[in-house]
Amino acid sequence: MRTEQCFSDGWIFEGIEEVCLPHTAVELPFSYLDEASYQRPFSYEKHFDKDPTWEGQEVFLRLDAAMANARVSLNGVEIAAHADGYTPITARMTDVLVDEGNHLEVIVDGTENPDIPPFGGQIDYLTYAGLYRDAWLIVRPKIAIENLKIEPGSFLDDKQSLELNVFTTRYADSENTPRLFIEVLDANLEPVVAQEVDAAQGLTHCSIENLEDIVLWDVDNPYLYSVRITLKSSAGTDVVEERFGFRSAEFKPDGFYLNGRNLKIRGLNRHQSFPYIGYALGKAAQEKDAEILKNELRLNLVRCSHYPQSKYFLDRCDEIGLLVFEEIPGWQHIGGDAWKSEAIENVRRMIQRDWNHPSIIIWGVRINESQDDGDFYQRTNALARELDPTRQTGGVRYHTNSQLLEDVYTMNDFILGEVEPERNEPQRALRPQAEVTGKEVPIPYLVTEYNGHMYPTKATDSEHRLAEQALRHLEVIDAAFGDPNISGCVGWCAWDYNTHADFGSGDRICHHGVMDMFREPKFAAYAYSSQCEPQDGIILKPATYWARGERSIGGVLPLLIMTNCDFVELQYGETTSQLGYPARDRFPNLPHPPIIFETRDFGAQQLGMWGTDWQSGTIRGFLNNEHVATFNLVRNPLPTSLDVIPDAGVISERDAVRVMIRALDQVGNKLPYLLDPVKVSIDGPARILGPRILPLRAGSTGLWLQSTGVGKINLYVRHDRFAPVERTITVQQT
Ligand code: GAL
Repeated sequence: MRTEQCFSDGWIFEGIEEVCLPHTAVELPFSYLDEASYQRPFSYEKHFDKDPTWEGQEVFLRLDAAMANARVSLNGVEIAAHADGYTPITARMTDVLVDEGNHLEVIVDGTENPDIPPFGGQIDYLTYAGLYRDAWLIVRPKIAIENLKIEPGSFLDDKQSLELNVFTTRYADSENTPRLFIEVLDANLEPVVAQEVDAAQGLTHCSIENLEDIVLWDVDNPYLYSVRITLKSSAGTDVVEERFGFRSAEFKPDGFYLNGRNLKIRGLNRHQSFPYIGYALGKAAQEKDAEILKNELRLNLVRCSHYPQSKYFLDRCDEIGLLVFEEIPGWQHIGGDAWKSEAIENVRRMIQRDWNHPSIIIWGVRINESQDDGDFYQRTNALARELDPTRQTGGVRYHTNSQLLEDVYTMNDFILGEVEPERNEPQRALRPQAEVTGKEVPIPYLVTEYNGHMYPTKATDSEHRLAEQALRHLEVIDAAFGDPNISGCVGWCAWDYNTHADFGSGDRICHHGVMDMFREPKFAAYAYSSQCEPQDGIILKPATYWARGERSIGGVLPLLIMTNCDFVELQYGETTSQLGYPARDRFPNLPHPPIIFETRDFGAQQLGMWGTDWQSGTIRGFLNNEHVATFNLVRNPLPTSLDVIPDAGVISERDAVRVMIRALDQVGNKLPYLLDPVKVSIDGPARILGPRILPLRAGSTGLWLQSTGVGKINLYVRHDRFAPVERTITVQQT
C-alpha cells in the first residue's frame, strides 16, 4: 500500500541550522531589501533511517518546489536534478538507500541563471531561493500509478462521460496482469460508478459512459467528484485518489462561457510572495489567499502571474469556485535554445501536475509579455494541446497585431494610463479588441492586466490618490463589461509585492496592489468587491478619511462610494442630508456603479467651508427602499481600540497564521496617519516572522506566526495609545 508521509521536518540548512519546510534561504526586510542576498547556492541536508516496512517497495522523495536549479543526492549519489523553481522534483531513492544513516542533500542555487526561465533579462518580481514548499516521502509498490488524467466530456448533455488515462510505472515484472479498479466518487466519497480493466504497460486508457444526474462544478457550486484507482498486481496494491469536476469552460468571440452560460471574468493577478519570508508559507496561507480573492475581493478568476503556484492554493480554488489562469515562468525575455527547451518542459510539468483542477480554465503558454516567436510558440501550443485537449491556450502579450498561435488572445491593455488628458486626447479604459488584434472578425479575447505601474498607489498615499486608483479600476471593469467581445478583465494586481531595483518605488516594492503586502484592502479593493450581488454580501465603502483638510482645497467631494446598494443617504452633521444614486451615466456597464457625490450636489455652505466646524458623517445604504447598511465617519477621530485579528484560532502544526492589527477610532475606522509603532511578543510554540516592532501603515499592519510545535501560542500586542491586547492561538497536531 502506498504511503505519502510529510518529510518537511528535520532538515539541516547550510550545515548548521535545523529547519522545517517551507523554508526561505534568506529572510528579508519588508522593504529596501538586497535582492542579491539570496542569489547564491544553499544546502539542505536530512538524515534518516530506512524503515523495515519499505523493504521490497519503491521509495521516492518529492520536493514540491525548490528555487532553483536543484540537485538532489542521496548517500553521495546524485538522484535528481531540476532547474525549474515552480514544479515538483521527484527523486527515486530506492537503489541508494541504506538501512541506517541515509544522508540526503539538496543544493539549490538562487543565482538568476540565464539558462533557466524566468531568468536572463529583468524580472518584475523576486524568486526567493529555498525549499519553499513541502517535502514528501513516498513509499509505493514496485508496480504503481505514476499519474492520472481525468477528462470529463459531453458536459451539457443529460449523460456525462469520463476519459481516464492512468499512467503506471513498473520497477518489477508482474506475475499476473495488473488490474485497475476504477471508482468515481461523489463529493461525500460515495461511489457513483465502478469499473475494472487490465492495466497496460505505461498508459491505460479507460472510458466511463452514461453517468447520470451529475452535478456540474461551477463558481457558485464548486461540486467536486473524485476518481479512486486501485492497482492490483503481484507487486502489491497501489491506490491513488484525485479530485475533479464536471464543467465546460470556453472562450468564444462573444465572451467566456462556463457550463454554457456567459460569465464576464472579473479577476486580479496574484504573486505568491509574502513579506519577509518570500514564497515560503504553507497550506494555511496559500488557502487564505484563495479565500481573500474569492470572498473578500469577490473575484471569479485569479491569474497565477507568472508561474505555477502552490497545489494548496489551486486545491482551494477548486473547493471555493475560483477560476484560474495558470502560466509558465517568464517575464518578457526569451533565451536561447537550451532556455527554450526548458520552457517547453515547463509547459509539460505545469500541465501534468495540474490537469485535473476544474478551476483551471486556460493554460498560459507564452512567456509573459514576450515578443512573437513563431517556432517557439508553435511548440508550446502544440504540446499543451497534445497533453490536454480539454483546455484552451492563451499567452499574455502587451503588443498589438501579435501572431496568434493560441486559442485566446490574452492582452495586457494599459491604455488607460497611456493617454494623458492634458494631451487633449480622450482617455480610454480599454481598446476594442479589433484595434489590438488587427483582425476584422472578433476572436476569443481576454484582458489579462491593466493599471499596475500606470498608477502605483501606496496604502500610505493620500486619500485622493487612493480614490483615483479605485476609479481607474472601476473604469476598466466598466469597459470590459461594456464590450461583449471582451471576455473580462484581470487587473494588475491583487497585492503589492517585493521586486528588483529595476522596478517599484526604490523600496523594492511594486505598490500596484488593490491590497497591500499583508492583503489589507486599499480603496481599490472595493472596486471589485462592490460588483457582487447584495445577496452575497452588502458592500458600502466610501473612499475617504473624512477630514476637512486631507485633500487639496479641502473637503471630501467628490466622494466616491463603492456599493451594491440601490442608493445611499449621506448625512453631514445633524441637519444636512442628501440622497445619492449609482453613477450609471459614467459607468453604464458595471453591475453596480459607484455612487459619487459631487460638489454640485450640495449647496455652497452645506458641508461647511475652510474655517467652519467639521461634522461627523453617516452613510446609509438602501436596497428595495429598506435601510440595510450604515457607514459612520467621525469628525474627530481618536485612537480608541486596537483590533488584533488572527485568521484562525486553531492552526495545524507547521502552519503559519496571519494576524492583522488595526488602529481604530471611535466608530471603528482605521486611523491612517497614526504612525507610532506596535510592539508584538509571544510565548508558546511559534516564531514571529519579521520584526517585533511594526510600523502602522495606513492604520494597519500584519504579521505571520509560524508554529514550531503544538500547544497554545499567546500573542501580546502593545501600542502606547491603546490598552494592550492578548490573543491565544492553538496549534494542533496534524
Ligand atoms: C506588466 C507585467 C507585470 C507587472 C506589471 C506592472 O508589464 O506583466 O508583471 O510588471 O506590468 O504594471
